[in-house]
Amino acid sequence: MSTLAGKHIVLGLSGGIAAYKSAELCRALVKAGVTVQVVMTEAAEHFMTAVTMQALSGRPVYTSQWDAREGNNMAHINLSREADAIVVAPASADFLSKLLHGGADELLSLMCLARPIDKVPLIVAPAMNREMWQNPATQRNVAQLKADGIHVLDVGQGDQACGETGDGRMLEAEEILEDLQAFFSPQRLAGQKVLVTAGPTYEAIDPVRGITNLSSGKMGFAVARAARMAGADVTLVAGPVSLATPRGVKRVDVRSARDMLQAVLAQVPSRGVFVATAAVADWRPANAADQKIKKDGSGQAPELGFVENPDILATVAQSPSAQNGDLLCVGFAAESHDLLAHATAKRLRKGVPLLVGNIGPATFGQDDNALLLVDAQGARELPHASKQVLATQLIEDIARRLAGTP
Ligand code: C5P
Repeated sequence: MSTLAGKHIVLGLSGGIAAYKSAELCRALVKAGVTVQVVMTEAAEHFMTAVTMQALSGRPVYTSQWDAREGNNMAHINLSREADAIVVAPASADFLSKLLHGGADELLSLMCLARPIDKVPLIVAPAMNREMWQNPATQRNVAQLKADGIHVLDVGQGDQACGETGDGRMLEAEEILEDLQAFFSPQRLAGQKVLVTAGPTYEAIDPVRGITNLSSGKMGFAVARAARMAGADVTLVAGPVSLATPRGVKRVDVRSARDMLQAVLAQVPSRGVFVATAAVADWRPANAADQKIKKDGSGQAPELGFVENPDILATVAQSPSAQNGDLLCVGFAAESHDLLAHATAKRLRKGVPLLVGNIGPATFGQDDNALLLVDAQGARELPHASKQVLATQLIEDIARRLAGTP
C-alpha cells in the first residue's frame, strides 16, 4: 500500500555523477506503481544514457525542447500539465541556480518554470561536491528556493566521487522514495510531536548475561514510520533490536526498562502523543553482578532474586500533561488469549484512553499482525494485515482522536 501508487511523476536528471542513483530511483518508483516520465538535460546525458532510463521507465525519454514527437511541439507544457509532481534528481548546483533565476534555456528548466506552481509540486534532490554545497551561493539559492515553495530534499553525508568527504551527496534512491511517500501521505499529524517506545528491554544478570524477550520491535518501528509519514515530529525510544531507523525519525537506543523510563520521561513534557509498543520486562534481577557469575563446582545454581520494573506507560499516564489532556497515551497489550477481556482490563489498569491488543505469540518477529483497539466506548478490530498497514490505520485513528472526531 504505497501512497505513490497511481501517481505520474516527471523525473528530471541534471548533470551529476549521482545520476547513476536515478536509475535505481526510476526502478523503485515504477515498482511502487508510479508512471515515470524521464526528462534529461544535455549534461545528464554525459553521465547516464537515455536508453537506460527509457528501459527502466518503459517510456521514451525527453531530452530536448525541440522534440518533434509532441503534436504542438510544446513538450515543456504537455509534460508538466500531466504530472502529479516533478522530481529533479540529481539537481546540480548549476540547475538549482537556474531554477532560482527562472532560467529556461533547455527542456527541464523550461518545464519547471512552465509548471502550474499551485498544482504541480517541484521536489529537488541536490547532488554536488561538499565545497559546492557549502558555498554561500548554493546555500543562498537553497534558502530562496525553499521560500519560493520548492521542496528541497536533504543531502547525504559521506565519501564523494571526487575523493573528498562531507555533505552534498545525493540521497540514496530508497531515501528519496521514502521522502516522496511521506510527501504524498495525508499529513494528519502535521505539527504533532509523537513519542514511541519499541522492542524488548534487556535486564542484566551479570556483564555477559541477561533477561529479554522475543519482541522484534517491528510494530513500534512501523508506528514511528507511519507517524513520520503523517507529518509528525517523531522520537523513537528503542530497546535492543536490529532494525534500521525509519527515515526522518529521531532514535534513542536504550537497554533496560529503567533506561527506557528515563529516556521517555525526558521527552514527555514536549510531546502530544505517546505510543508504548515496547515489550518492557516486568522484572529485573534484584542485584546484577559486576563480574561474570562463575560455576563454583558445587552444582548449585545461583539464587536470582527479582524486583519489579517501573511501569513506563502507567507512569506517563499519570504525568501532568497526560492528566490535563495535552498528551494522548496509547498502550499495547501482547496477550496469548482472551484478548478483549485482557485488553479492557489493562486499559483501565494503565489509565490510558486507548489500548491496542494483539496476540503476542502470533506476532512477535512477524511482519504482519491484527489489532484490537479498545477504548471507553468499546472495541474495534483492525483485521490481519502487514504491521505497516496496521500502523498507518492506528495513526489515522489517533489523528481522529486528536481532532475530536473518533
Ligand atoms: O503490563 P503489560 O506489560 O502487559 O502492559 C503492556 C503495555 O504497557 C505496553 O504498552 C508496554 O509498552 C507498557 N509497559 C510499560 N512499562 C512496563 C510494562 C509495560 O510501559 N514496565
